Amino acid sequence: MATKVWDGFIRGFHWLLVIGIAVLYFSGEEGWLEVHFVTGYLLLALMATRLIWGIIGSQTAKLSSLFHSPKAILASFKSTATYVGHNPAGSLMVLAFFVLIIVQLVSGLFTTDDILVEGPLVAHVPYSWAELAGDIHHTNIDILLIAIAVHISAIVIYRLRGKNLVKPLLTGNTAEPVSSAPAMRSGLIAYGIFVVLSAILLFTWGYEPLMALF
Ligand code: HEM
Ligand code: HEM
Repeated sequence: MATKVWDGFIRGFHWLLVIGIAVLYFSGEEGWLEVHFVTGYLLLALMATRLIWGIIGSQTAKLSSLFHSPKAILASFKSTATYVGHNPAGSLMVLAFFVLIIVQLVSGLFTTDDILVEGPLVAHVPYSWAELAGDIHHTNIDILLIAIAVHISAIVIYRLRGKNLVKPLLTGNTAEPVSSAPAMRSGLIAYGIFVVLSAILLFTWGYEPLMALF
């Protein structure tokens, strides 16, 4: 019998995150900063929603379920047991992603290209802060890329060991037996929060870059 382990928002969050980071990477590298800013605000809304969902969402979305002892983390590297939600090693990866993505988003708000375009908070801080934020924005992206490479390698290694983690993240369900079904909430609530936060960010900071695109 299939058990639901990932709600609709966690699944949508993951694949929107992948698309968002790809767009942000290429638009940043190419200097398409209007696209970069608009996508950046959408990703900011998405990430904020994920953190809120980590408090009020399904059991497997909870931030509190991501903290484990070093012993449990080491043990989970060796095991291919079925976990409901992220296993302890996976949880560490998820926490690292959240920190790296938030650092990238927040440093972007203070980053300027020193010519025409600046993040919405640059004008509110001394220039030395904006310089530091720019350095962080340029360095942190490389750490984020390394984390993505490790993440995808781990998913491939699990697959080679006979465990398909991608399928549940696409369908929401696992066919493997689990000790007890997790408590789930409708992902629609989270999408509602995402739409409201996106609208607020696009009508405030996002208005100018959005208009420049059309
Ligand atoms: C930009 C690239 C990527 C980023 C930033 C990323 C980030 C993440 C994050 C943050 C989570 C935790 C989801 C949550 O609880 O909210 C996650 C889980 C997961 N990701 Fe990715 N991901 C990326 C690419 C991929 C790709 C390409 C695949 C598939 C080949 C993949 C497969 C998975 C799977 C299977 C899980 C669930 C793992 C588990 O069962 O514990 N990811 N990823
Ligand atoms: C996860 C989200 C983000 C990613 C992955 C990302 C990635 C990048 C990358 C790869 C570059 C090019 C760096 C280089 O040329 O070495 C860049 C530049 C830039 N980003 Fe982001 N960015 C993100 C979010 C943001 C946000 C939210 C803002 C502001 C609203 C922002 C503002 C800028 C600016 C102003 C530049 C140009 C800096 C320069 O020309 O030196 N970024 N970003």
